[in-house]
Amino acid sequence: KRLILIGPPGSGKGTQSPVIKDEYCLCHLATGDMLRAAVAAKTPLGIKAKEAMDKGELVSDDLVVGIIDEALKKPSCQKGFILDGFPRTVVQAQKLDEMLEKRGVKVDKVLNFAIDDAILEERITGRWIHPASGRTYHTKYSPPKVFGIDDVTGEPLIQRKDDTAAVLKSRLEAFHKQTEPVIDYYAKKSIVANLHAEKPPKEVTGEVQKVLSS
Ligand code: AP5
Ligand code: ZN
Ligand code: ZN
Repeated sequence: KRLILIGPPGSGKGTQSPVIKDEYCLCHLATGDMLRAAVAAKTPLGIKAKEAMDKGELVSDDLVVGIIDEALKKPSCQKGFILDGFPRTVVQAQKLDEMLEKRGVKVDKVLNFAIDDAILEERITGRWIHPASGRTYHTKYSPPKVFGIDDVTGEPLIQRKDDTAAVLKSRLEAFHKQTEPVIDYYAKKSIVANLHAEKPPKEVTGEVQKVLSS
């Protein structure tokens, strides 16, 4: 299957991705993760992206479209994929359609992680991440066995630089202004499935599985 996950920061896209990936054996492409890796490695791409990311603004369409175009060439992405955090503007959605048209395929489903803004600050400020694996914890909703330590590897967990209440405000603004129109773009193609993203993680997983098996 070819899937897109859309939702505001903290809505659970990254949390549900591994579940979908394990069950459907897809390639998982998260533009945020790829950009953070580029920033950490100080690549030319990372240097260009850092300022916008720190402020909670979107990186330019050209940069992210380039990353996705390259990544979709991987052998593991030929049978299907999950795009987490892309497309985030209507221009990105149009470019994706062009890329897929060339390959003779199209998007099957868009999972819309619908959730009220009010819940997101607590989710974002309580998030801890194991950078190497992408495993995500939450101090209240899914705490690690030992505070600040990854359950599997015993390595330290980190918090994302943009996971502050102040930067979250800009990220939410970008979501409502630039990304919500993308949901309408796909709604016109009748491929959007709305999830109740405010529910506990296992219930959201159940909804995802229901959509994917239908
Ligand atoms: P990105 O990394 O994509 O961040 P985001 O969209 O802000 O999304 P998050 O990763 O914050 O949220 P999530 O939905 O994955 O939440 P999670 O599952 O971890 O982008 C970062 C930046 O990169 C952007 O600001 C931009 O600058 C740039 N960028 C990326 N893509 C771009 C693009 N296409 N174009 C331009 N710029 C781009 O969950 C959050 C927390 O809640 C966790 O602690 C988790 O444990 C907990 N949780 C999850 N689900 C539940 C639940 N059901 N109940 C209770 N707690 C839960
Ligand atoms: Zn994420
Ligand atoms: Zn809105």
